[in-house]
Amino acid sequence: MNPHLSQLHLYPFEKLASLKQGIAPPAEKPHIALSIGEPKHATPTFIQEALLQHLSGLNQYPTTKGLPELRQAIAGWTSRRFDIPLPFIDPEMQILPVNGTREALFSLVQTVIDPRDKPVVIMPNPFYQIYEGAALLAGAEPYYLNTLADNGYLPDFDSVPETIWQRCQLIFICSPGNPTGSVFAESEHVKLMQLAEKYDFIIASDECYTELYDDESSPPLGLLQSAYQAGNKDFKRCVIFQSLSKRSNVPGLRSGFVAGDANVLKNYFKYRTYHGCPMPVSTQHASIAAWNDEDHVRQNRQLYREKFSNFIEILQPVCAINQPPARSPGC
Ligand SMILES: Cc1ncc(COP(=O)(O)O)c(C=O)c1O
Repeated sequence: MNPHLSQLHLYPFEKLASLKQGIAPPAEKPHIALSIGEPKHATPTFIQEALLQHLSGLNQYPTTKGLPELRQAIAGWTSRRFDIPLPFIDPEMQILPVNGTREALFSLVQTVIDPRDKPVVIMPNPFYQIYEGAALLAGAEPYYLNTLADNGYLPDFDSVPETIWQRCQLIFICSPGNPTGSVFAESEHVKLMQLAEKYDFIIASDECYTELYDDESSPPLGLLQSAYQAGNKDFKRCVIFQSLSKRSNVPGLRSGFVAGDANVLKNYFKYRTYHGCPMPVSTQHASIAAWNDEDHVRQNRQLYREKFSNFIEILQPVCAINQPPARSPGC
């Protein structure tokens, strides 16, 4: 058996299920699920319709790269959302569709890590469990960076010893962060890009919550946006993970993308051709419709805004609670 498998922890929801076994909740109280971060808002009808209209595509094998129309829709969205002129985002070389970011966060690590070199993967703590599992199965040692209140719930890069940076092959960042909703500033992205250049590692930026934010005039910054603004216009050592799951309330569709450094994407593409995980054509069409529309995303944000103000109003009298700049399941 692959010896790395024995290093994996029980997946959190299995752990939770085993902890809850034999416990009967009070029958008179309604159940509030605080486990999996699953959107509760309805999937927009036009996305469902696009999926149904293209079911005829089931007789085709999809390709790993996906339809050019999908990659163009993603490039267009990335350009509009992160203020990067379109010519700087190459849909051929810098974008790959993935079946949700979960599988991509896992599989990209398998293509970056060289296990011969005592590799380290740095990640925030608390973290999305996939980061750790991906690092362990790739033969890397996870290094946890606690995200504490003192540092605005962001990782403190200054606390990382030089010896760890020297062994670091990939760092995960999550902005807006799960579970705190904390958001990276441009200066933090820039500092990390400088470290990545100095020590030669890849920055994997999990941005699956970037579209759920409070202030319409101040959307969270993305890593590619900071890279472009800082003059790293080919996004060297930077990759982002974007998902439709939370943005468009379609976690069951399994649709997202990876974008950034063409070199990293080239190897990732090669890996995926063998891994055999292309996105079904009907899903691709539903995804094109979703990436091309912002109205439903604005409405979604409004629903979260209302929920958050109710939540905060109820909790404020009994505990210290602040409005985070962005949303994630834990905040
Ligand atoms: C931080 C974080 N990243 C990535 C994901 C994966 O989302 P998906 O695979 O639906 O794109 C989740 C899901 O909850 C998450 O919380």
